[in-house]
Amino acid sequence: MTAPASAAADVLVIFGITGDLARKMTFRSLYRLERRRLLRCPIVGVARQEWSAATLRDHARRAIEDSGEVIIEDVFQRFAERLSMISGDFGDPGTYDRVARAIEARRTPVFYLEIPPSLFGRVVEGLADADLTGRARVVVEKPFGHDLASARALNAQLRGLLEERQILRIDHFLGKEPSLDILFLRFANSIWEPLWNRDRIQCVQITMAEDFGVEDRGSFYDPVGALRDVVQNHLLQLIGLFAAEPPSTSADGLRDKRVEVFRAVPSADPRHYVRGQYDGYLDVPGVSPDSRTETYAALRLEIDNWRWSGVPIFIRAGKALPERVTEIRAVFKQPPRLAFAPTFAPDPNELILRIDPDPGIDLIVQAKQPGAQATRTVDLSLIFSEELGEAPEPYERLLGDAMEGDSSLFTREDSVEETWRIVQPLLDAPPPVEPYKAGSWGPAGADELLVGHPRWRDPWLHSHAMSQHPVRTDTPDGAD
Ligand code: BG6
Repeated sequence: MTAPASAAADVLVIFGITGDLARKMTFRSLYRLERRRLLRCPIVGVARQEWSAATLRDHARRAIEDSGEVIIEDVFQRFAERLSMISGDFGDPGTYDRVARAIEARRTPVFYLEIPPSLFGRVVEGLADADLTGRARVVVEKPFGHDLASARALNAQLRGLLEERQILRIDHFLGKEPSLDILFLRFANSIWEPLWNRDRIQCVQITMAEDFGVEDRGSFYDPVGALRDVVQNHLLQLIGLFAAEPPSTSADGLRDKRVEVFRAVPSADPRHYVRGQYDGYLDVPGVSPDSRTETYAALRLEIDNWRWSGVPIFIRAGKALPERVTEIRAVFKQPPRLAFAPTFAPDPNELILRIDPDPGIDLIVQAKQPGAQATRTVDLSLIFSEELGEAPEPYERLLGDAMEGDSSLFTREDSVEETWRIVQPLLDAPPPVEPYKAGSWGPAGADELLVGHPRWRDPWLHSHAMSQHPVRTDTPDGAD
């Protein structure tokens, strides 16, 4: 018997509950769901460690406190009462028998695998052998492969054991409230639609900057690099939301529209790809002394469809940059020279959707400079939290959706494979890695990528939004 993919979970089973991700994200997110009274089922942790339920509860309390969440005692009590623990090796069939006994009366389990992908197969097989997968959903964490071939192999392995509708792949960027704001901004406001296309937009710039290095993640990061770590997944998913056609109401509507965007993106061209590595990266513990891994990636993509053809999408992502900020910026077409102020060429309008931090939108418009026959740029900006209040956090939303059976914000097999297909030529023929200074905006080559197009904009930062857009009358590259 198979449960509808949308039936609410009646138990959440977390494999790897003693791990880092659970400590940093999961307990906090589940606690927040509890606080909002959105948690409705027991939670069973599974891990090799011999932990009692009491140990698990103490650990959960510390993890929630360490995450900065203020504990409300009666909420925590309700949450703690849901927690129980099964200890056992993932390779031991006895572990799955114990899970089966613990959830025997439950009909629609959700299994959350907070474990390395190399263990997915073993765990799902163990669950299937114990007859636990028929009505289940299985939530998995990235990475979903390290290239197209391994992503296909991983998908094939999971699909040998589960139906696609049972698999929920997390990309936490899709759970970020401001990512979803993109859809609402676009489709709940009719003013944008006439502007959201190749007729009005000259290019799109996506920046994901982090003002910290690889820190203690050297051995994870070194075989991965920026392209695999955040571009293939997070930033391409943002493009999927930014560029999608309006979704229908069907459960798969939004996923279909995102994948349609990816299908229209030609595979990336290594000639439009720049890699950088910050000075000091080689000293990070776990990094190979002669590593050529990129901690910075900048690239150009296109979307060959009716709406977007001819609009370059420039992406840059890097560690050890001056700020932590993720934004999508649409640069509109240049207005004509003004007949009544012929010495002056106004800058184009820009619309910025900031994902992190302080999500919001900023529309850059031209206003007359007092006392002069010229314009200057001003910001019409809105920080969502100031107007709209606190938003759920990514894992809170995604775990809530997984339990409710809403799969629209999870990545589907076809979209994972399409996004790998897009970046595969860059993995096959990577350009040399250019050094850059920690705290700079990355290697010089990234500027050359934009020759003939508006140069990289300084990201919009809440604290000094106005000073980011000083009077700009020069057009050095003749393009903006
Ligand atoms: C993770 C990457 O997926 O996303 C990290 O592995 C990156 O390297 C992180 O720092 C960024 O996510 P967020 O939500 O902190 O911006």
